[in-house]
Amino acid sequence: MLDVNQLSAGYGGIPVLRDISLSIAKGESVGILGHNGMGKTTLLRCLIGALRPSAGRVQLEGRDVTAAAPNVRARLGMTYVPQGREIFPALSAMDNLRMGLVKTGERGMETIEGLLQDFPRLKPLLERPGGSLSGGEQQLLALARALAGKPSLLLLDEPTEGIQPSIIEEIADTLAALRAKLALTIVLVEQNLEFIAAVSQRVLVIKRGQLGGEVPREHLTDIELMSQYTGVHA
Ligand SMILES: Nc1ncnc2c1ncn2[C@@H]1O[C@H](COP(=O)(O)OP(=O)(O)OP(=O)(O)O)[C@@H](O)[C@H]1O
Ligand SMILES: [Mg+2]
Repeated sequence: MLDVNQLSAGYGGIPVLRDISLSIAKGESVGILGHNGMGKTTLLRCLIGALRPSAGRVQLEGRDVTAAAPNVRARLGMTYVPQGREIFPALSAMDNLRMGLVKTGERGMETIEGLLQDFPRLKPLLERPGGSLSGGEQQLLALARALAGKPSLLLLDEPTEGIQPSIIEEIADTLAALRAKLALTIVLVEQNLEFIAAVSQRVLVIKRGQLGGEVPREHLTDIELMSQYTGVHA
């Protein structure tokens, strides 16, 4: 589904990512674990086409999209929920969802009603301004909006940031259910160990701009062991 080859990127000549290579199969859910400033958002920005890598290649379903604009990648099935969610605070939750349809030009209500089955918490909130929802509700809204475009590849940037624990669990459950139902491929960057372990089949670790390997599967269920990979103790 997604192949990244020896990708490097930075800002104004200052390198941030170095020699990143990864391969993600269709339907797979892959977490990329890393602390603040390690280059997680920079990597996602290269994947969606918001930042041009200084070297390397990005392929989507075998097609080289390294130079493709974000809207081209979106048409090919890629969608992105940015860090901080970026919902429209002045628009109602419903209008935020409708914005998700713009990309595909799909005629709307059926898609939205279908989606809301998987986001019951949003149903009573639809008339409220997006900005009046809690952080967790906004994250669910951003996720639903991204899914309204019927993507095949979902990129998530720290969905748990600033969200209370009870709703973090709900987001993890929602993602797991949607992944199974829609055969979604998911790339998640996170620093929340429990969440990344709950949502990902594989977890890669990004440290100072480089991928430092994969967390062994048997360690995903042991938060103590997982924390050793994040660099806190390294
Ligand atoms: N637009 C920019 N211009 C210059 N430097 C930037 C820019 N965006 C990010 N950086 C720098 O690149 C490095 C990686 O940033 P990035 O946002 O990718 O990290 P991150 O892992 O997503 O961090 P966080 O967990 O805080 O979101 C940091 O040193 C950051 O200061
Ligand atoms: Mg970030």
